[in-house]
Amino acid sequence: MVLSTDKHAVIWTRTKDGPLKMADMIVTPKQTRFSYTKEFIEYDAEYGAKYLAGGVSLLAPPQQYKTEQVTYLAKDSIPLYPRLMSMLPARNETNIQRRLYTRILEKSDLPPKPGLDTDWEILLLSAHNGIGHLDIFRDDRIAENYYNNPEQRNLLTSRSAYWKQIQAEIQNTVYDIDDDELLDAFGPTPSVGGMIPKILVAIPDVKNWQGEFASPGTKEVDDVGYVDVILKIEPIGYEGVLTLEALCLELHQELDFEVPQFWLSEIDGMRVLAIKRFDRSGEGYPIPMESFYSVFAIGDKYFQSNADTDLEEMAYRIARLGKVANMDVRAIQHELYKRLIVALFTGNGDLHLENLSFLGGAEHVKLAPVYDPAPMRAWSRHNTRFAIPLIFDDEVGGLRENIIKLGEAYQYTNKQAVSLIDEIAEKTKDYIKRVEALNGVPEQNKKLLIEIVKKERELLK
Ligand SMILES: Nc1ncnc2c1ncn2[C@@H]1O[C@H](COP(=O)(O)OP(=O)(O)OP(=O)(O)O)[C@@H](O)[C@H]1O
Ligand SMILES: [Mg+2]
Repeated sequence: MVLSTDKHAVIWTRTKDGPLKMADMIVTPKQTRFSYTKEFIEYDAEYGAKYLAGGVSLLAPPQQYKTEQVTYLAKDSIPLYPRLMSMLPARNETNIQRRLYTRILEKSDLPPKPGLDTDWEILLLSAHNGIGHLDIFRDDRIAENYYNNPEQRNLLTSRSAYWKQIQAEIQNTVYDIDDDELLDAFGPTPSVGGMIPKILVAIPDVKNWQGEFASPGTKEVDDVGYVDVILKIEPIGYEGVLTLEALCLELHQELDFEVPQFWLSEIDGMRVLAIKRFDRSGEGYPIPMESFYSVFAIGDKYFQSNADTDLEEMAYRIARLGKVANMDVRAIQHELYKRLIVALFTGNGDLHLENLSFLGGAEHVKLAPVYDPAPMRAWSRHNTRFAIPLIFDDEVGGLRENIIKLGEAYQYTNKQAVSLIDEIAEKTKDYIKRVEALNGVPEQNKKLLIEIVKKERELLK
């Protein structure tokens, strides 16, 4: 093995008692290896359960591994430990965050090669104070410097270079920022995965939000309380997506799901949706959050992609996780099955393994509240019934019968499944009218979505 290809990093987290180093990590083209620090193991043993703290993954529990090394074997499709993969901005040309980080790296003295090297540098540049509780740094000195100098993190406003640059990228215009400024603006800024452009900010906790925002973690401005949110910005090509997402968040709320508070508004002529973060405690400390994708990919060496499971198997994978993590398996399965039915009734074909997460460390895990329930089937290129396949058995019957059968894996009797489907059908019966009534969603997308939902409703009768 060529030693120079080894990459080193350290993983830290922020606890109630201050920043704490969790682990040392080495990545080679063949493996990711990390081991927990003694201080972290002790802290986790004492306070883990109380503060919802957790290790690097639900499947790498600190109390089980102690200082023993955790090893992950790289695959072509998942070269880094999956928990780290899901901290990276998506690998596609149109991802604004990836574009900006790549631009910063291209201008550096030693630009990294495309592929793993670039991903690694993007991780070191952006993976701190993001979603969940892991902060990644090149070494401890950089970590300490980051925590000791909070004022260095850029002050975000709608006048800052950071925002102007995001706006220019979205509107496809040129914003004349020089390279140093770009690094200043984006270097300290965490990134968030997913397709829709988004940034992490704090906004005033008021009913009629007018689009003001500040750096994440801001608690108050001019005596007004602020909350941490994910701010999604509507990109060209997806007009109406945030309006539709807001409708579906509202609908989930009415159906008694746990849904974060959200605000639909406009900033500088761009449609935005702010969603209150549930991976921060009231005092602002990070709560571990790990996607189904990460947990499944770490737990299964044959797992290659989102489609490497199916809806029935997903229920069993959750049951297996219940053997190593403290969670109410049945409650989680029940909740998930209901979400799947609502997805069918609303045209949300996008409930993939990054749109479902666990919240909390292994001592106390629950399903994260509903997020990203956008009815993506309104766009023909996203028009699939389920992102995670449903193995359809014609002998069982049609869609309704297959969904009822699926309920068995989620610990529902056929009778219970029937009444759930009928209840959700009843409670979503004005959905089509509500879609029709929306402003700001192109007619063609409304038409397609309504057609699809009508068809599905027929099949579910
Ligand atoms: N309210 C929230 N609190 C904490 N984390 C969140 C919240 N909402 C979303 N996230 C995290 O941010 C990520 C991106 O958000 P989201 O899924 O809404 O974006 P997206 O771009 O629409 O994704 P996709 O690529 O699935 O369309 C999620 O996968 C999740 O990890
Ligand atoms: Mg998503």
